[in-house]
Amino acid sequence: MITSPMDPERARWIGTGIPPRLRGITLSDVEEMGAQPDALAKARFYVDGYRAQQSKNWRGLPVNPNIYGLGLLFAGQPGTGKTTLAAAILSELRRRYGTTVYYSRVSDHIDRERRLIRADQSVAAEELSRIQYAVERVQWADVVLLDDAGHEHSTGSKFAEDVLEQLLRQRYDEGRPTLITTNLSGDDWAARYSKALRSFMDQCTRRSIFVGESLRKADR
Ligand SMILES: Nc1ncnc2c1ncn2[C@@H]1O[C@H](COP(=O)(O)OP(=O)(O)OP(=O)(O)O)[C@@H](O)[C@H]1O
Ligand SMILES: [Mg+2]
Repeated sequence: MITSPMDPERARWIGTGIPPRLRGITLSDVEEMGAQPDALAKARFYVDGYRAQQSKNWRGLPVNPNIYGLGLLFAGQPGTGKTTLAAAILSELRRRYGTTVYYSRVSDHIDRERRLIRADQSVAAEELSRIQYAVERVQWADVVLLDDAGHEHSTGSKFAEDVLEQLLRQRYDEGRPTLITTNLSGDDWAARYSKALRSFMDQCTRRSIFVGESLRKADR
């Protein structure tokens, strides 16, 4: 069978989960778009300091335990550029340090976890391994972007909230930074998840608040 070679640029980004429109976007691209200077500066600072943040000594222990595994939380109104900037950070980390990165909407991750639990004979083996791959990437990628927390479907059992909390705690314990975007304010976050998780977010991420009007043309 003859298979056509995959476009190398496409091959480079496949398996990162990053949506095509955001693949390979750089911080300079975002700057040219006219990003919020504060948030952009924080993003640059984060990427520049990533190596030092994650460095370990000869015994394999973090050199800077207080920032080891630290991520970022981008909170703000819809359309203010959170996803775009966070995706640029992923691309930069990947390009500069060869970091394994992965992108997933929170809602997609929760749906996959639900499907794994309910998986029965009706789910084709191929589909199952695709789902498993994505779930493992979200858990084990060096840096993961969890997009749009708060938009996942919530049920009485609090399944989604529990999965997210467990994931964030597990990743932090393993020293793997998580970038997360949300429309929820701090108080909304405490109400939706828990006060404990809100307080944990301050430990495992640096928070940036995105202000201003939506940058989306359709919203103007
Ligand atoms: N710095 C920027 N300057 C101008 N336009 C931008 C900038 N950043 C993003 N945009 C554009 O604004 C729109 C919204 O950006 P983005 O999806 O990143 O926002 P968001 O904050 O993640 O929104 P939501 O909360 O709805 O997910 C996109 O069309 C994007 O291309
Ligand atoms: Mg977004």
